[in-house]
Amino acid sequence: QQPDIRYNHMAKLIIVSNRLPVKLQEHEGRLDFKPSEGGLATGLGSIYKKKNNLWIGWPGMVVEEEAQQQQIVENLNGQNMHPVFLTEKEIKEFYEGFSNETLWPTFHYFSQYAIYEQQLWETYVEVNQKYCDELVKVAEPDDTIWVHDYQLLLLPSMLREKLPESTIGFFQHIPFPSYEVFRLLPWRKELLEGMLGSDLIGFHTYDDMRHFLSSVNRLVGHGSTHGWINTGNRSLLVDSFPMGIDYEKYEQTADSEDVKKREKIFRNNLHSKKIVLSIDRLDYSKGIPQRLQAFELFLERYPEFHEKVTLVMLVVPSRDAVEKYKELKNEVDELVGRINGKYSHMNWNPIQYFYRSYPLETLSAFYRMADVALVTPMRDGMNLVCKEYVASKLDQTGVLILSEMAGASKELSEALLINPNDINQMVETLHTALTMPEDIQKQHMQHMQESLRRYNIHHWVSMFMDRLSYVKIKQLSMATT
Ligand code: F6P
Repeated sequence: QQPDIRYNHMAKLIIVSNRLPVKLQEHEGRLDFKPSEGGLATGLGSIYKKKNNLWIGWPGMVVEEEAQQQQIVENLNGQNMHPVFLTEKEIKEFYEGFSNETLWPTFHYFSQYAIYEQQLWETYVEVNQKYCDELVKVAEPDDTIWVHDYQLLLLPSMLREKLPESTIGFFQHIPFPSYEVFRLLPWRKELLEGMLGSDLIGFHTYDDMRHFLSSVNRLVGHGSTHGWINTGNRSLLVDSFPMGIDYEKYEQTADSEDVKKREKIFRNNLHSKKIVLSIDRLDYSKGIPQRLQAFELFLERYPEFHEKVTLVMLVVPSRDAVEKYKELKNEVDELVGRINGKYSHMNWNPIQYFYRSYPLETLSAFYRMADVALVTPMRDGMNLVCKEYVASKLDQTGVLILSEMAGASKELSEALLINPNDINQMVETLHTALTMPEDIQKQHMQHMQESLRRYNIHHWVSMFMDRLSYVKIKQLSMATT
């Protein structure tokens, strides 16, 4: 057990991420807050509300008027949040551009989609500086600053310059690619140097951590020993911390009367005996077209399942101003239309497709009723949907089909693991899942539940925080010897 040096009564944890866990939306002429999509927001939702902790990030909408900004600041400050307002240009060049058209495709091994533009890079630097300036206004020397994700890779070093003694953790929620892919980025060295301002850098998996250390070694020239990097004037640690979910929240929600009622209604409306579930943000990294093609081939190969199985596919709108996402939306719409057009009967559609976001209670009802969850990303840092599915299966029936390319596959070895590029394997695995005896389903589910209950979000946060405290102590002892 490492001592926790954060136990100063006023010290706070400041979470910084591109997006706040809530987003502003205009509704009937009024501004409302809605929960944000994505693993980060759901994962850390229960942490920032504690004590005087704070979450800093973009509220998801352009707000130009100063009086309105002030109103939002006051409103959010009352809920342990602080906004960073981004202009239209910053959203285009920093968020949609460099973050989601340069870094996102590269880090997910879709380099062929990446664009390299100096202007986008410059805005990325400016916006990271903007977050830094906002943080400097609210951070006290004893606070712990926890920076999240690829949109803010430069922030740790910027903060280190302004607050040299501060405690800075960084966590990357998406994969870190192999050196051969990472080195394609024209700004590769600056990005690594930005991250190296941290005291502790965390990844979901050991492989991501290894890729990062290899890039640091080859591009910046710092070797490492057991994850420790010495930059010449300071030491920092790199380690892996697989993120968990708020297990109890998903378990309790699935047990609520409201959710059971919703499940009953959905079941009555769907006439199939078997439900296969697919839930993702609309993103090419999630492998949605490949999943649809596998389902189409399954229907072709196993006609005995016609009218007996339905794929319930929820696609949550995401980054819809980015070209590749628009193209993907058209591709998914077309594929669903084609498959339904080919196989539908008057009283059966093989695919029930919903393009919108849903509240937790609806998701929970879908998880409860799904006989199979198809989670088959081409590449994913962790993937929390598969964990939420497992936590919601209170009767322990159900089968999880999981991509080997998701970080979660390293933990959930009891799932049926597939390679999302292998369509035949996906088809046959779906058949295995749909015909799996209940006692075997329960065995697998029970193992996965035990592990997820234990390695939950609270465990993840305390592992990271304890390691961060340990790094600070170790740095002090290194400085005095
Ligand atoms: O988990 C990766 C991530 O990019 C988070 O940083 C983000 O909050 C989430 O996915 C959703 O993406 P966006 O903020 O672009 O809507």
